[in-house]
Order: sequence, then C-alpha cells, then structure tokens
Amino acid sequence: MIILQTLKETKEIIRKIKKEGKSIGFVPTMGYLHQGHVSLIHQARQENDFVVVSIFVNPTQFGPNEDFEKYPRDLDRDAMLCKEAGTDLIFHPEASLIYPDNYMTYVDVNQITEKLCGASRPGHFRGVTTIVNKLFNIVEADRAYFGQKDAQQVAVIQKMVEDLNMNIEIIPCPIVREADGLAMSSRNVYLNQEERKAALVLSRSLFNARNAVSSGLKDAAALKAEIISTIASEPLTNIDYVEVVDARTLRDIEKLQGEILIALAVKIGKTRLIDNIRLEVR
Ligand code: PAF
Repeated sequence: MIILQTLKETKEIIRKIKKEGKSIGFVPTMGYLHQGHVSLIHQARQENDFVVVSIFVNPTQFGPNEDFEKYPRDLDRDAMLCKEAGTDLIFHPEASLIYPDNYMTYVDVNQITEKLCGASRPGHFRGVTTIVNKLFNIVEADRAYFGQKDAQQVAVIQKMVEDLNMNIEIIPCPIVREADGLAMSSRNVYLNQEERKAALVLSRSLFNARNAVSSGLKDAAALKAEIISTIASEPLTNIDYVEVVDARTLRDIEKLQGEILIALAVKIGKTRLIDNIRLEVR
C-alpha cells in the first residue's frame, strides 16, 4: 500500500492502473476510520482490481461553528486499518493543494440539499459535492462506495452523478452498528460515558419505528410523533430533525408506502449525531 499527498504522483499511478485495464474502486473518507469505513473498503476490494481510499478532512463542508478543528485525526491508525482491509493507495492531500488561494469553483445540487441535514447545516452539501467531484476527477474510479448512514449524502451524490452525466457508479453500503445498536461514526469519540448510553435512544427509536411499520402503521405523521416522543424521553437529547421521506427523492410523504427513509439528527450534549433506517412498505 502506498500513501501519496500530491496530485502529480496520484494521477501518475491512476494513469498507469487505467492503462493496464484495471478497474478502480474508491472510498472517500475524512479519516478516523471505523468498521463502517472498513466494510466499504472490503466491498471495494471485492469488486475492483485497485482500491483507493482518500483521507481528507474537507474544510468546505463544515460550518463556521462546527467541529472542523477538533474533528478527530489519526493517520497512522487509519493507514493500518486501510492496509488490513486491502487498500492499494491512500490519497491524503494537504488542504492547500485542494483549495489553493485562488480557488473559485463549487458544485451545487439544489432541492434535495435543502432539507434534513441541509436545512440545519447550510453550505454543507455544497462542500461535499465540491470535494467529491474533485476527488472523482483525481481518482477516476469506476465505482465509489458510500455508507448509508449519510443517506442524504448518498442521495445528493447520486443526483449529482446523474445530472452531470458523470462516469462513475455510486455504491451505497449498509450502516454498520455497534453491538448495542449505535451507528458507527467518527464523531462517537466525542461522547462521554453518560452520553454514549443516551445515544442509544437514536437506534432504539428507529427500531421501534420499524416494528410499528411492520405492525401496520401507515401514517407518517403518527410515526414521526412516536419517534420524537421516544427520543424526548431521554433527557440528554436535543432533536434537530426527525423526518419520514421517500427514500429516493427525500420528499415528504403522508402515507407510508414503497421505499421510505426515516432519518434523524439529534444532539447528545454538544455532539450532533445522525442515524436512519430504510424500509420497504407494501
Ligand atoms: O462522508 C464523508 O466522510 C465525507 O462527507 C466525504 C464523502 C468523504 C466528503 O468529504
């Protein structure tokens, strides 16, 4: 496995790999990897000849009062996990290489970026689509792997790829959870013991919702109210949003039917966590 920081060296290797007719699988990350990331690398490894992981804490997707500075970083540990999972190349650029002083170009996807996380984190998805676009241009992968925990991010990137006729397949991969249900996230490290326990209410509320739907509940508003009441019963929580939407378009729905997404963002103390569940309702 090699670790590269420059565009020149990375593009050279990519050119060579493509010339050899090999397929490239790409896992974009902000580092501080967990088993969720590892599962993406494993899948990329299975489906491609060459696997690239990018590790870059992207400043443009953080708001001014968000955790860019304190976002956890540990390149040595990340490199070890990448190597074990079968990565061939880590691309780990400096921010000044990605966004030089005269940087001017951004990618905006409208509408589906305006709700859920987009509503509470203005500019976030503009930062995500811009960096993902840039990374896609650098890595020239055949397939890119994204975790479904960031369900809106996956939907936004799929829309960008479709709208801009980009030549890459987006592969959404299942959420990986801790044994007690907490969705894996690099931000879980911010939680103290009490908050870590309280955070279980997120997955619990989603699993209860799944049970309610399989018992025949059909009304989205009633389901949302039930989830909110479960989360609010935990004193350390502060709900950002709970939404029940069409899984593909992220549009609000009234009746639970077809592929639905139940998505939520909740602050536990100072830490904002997201989680979701997709259900097929007949
Ligand atoms: O999901 C993430 O870690 C980031 O949003 C991504 C896709 C690597 C872009 O910075």
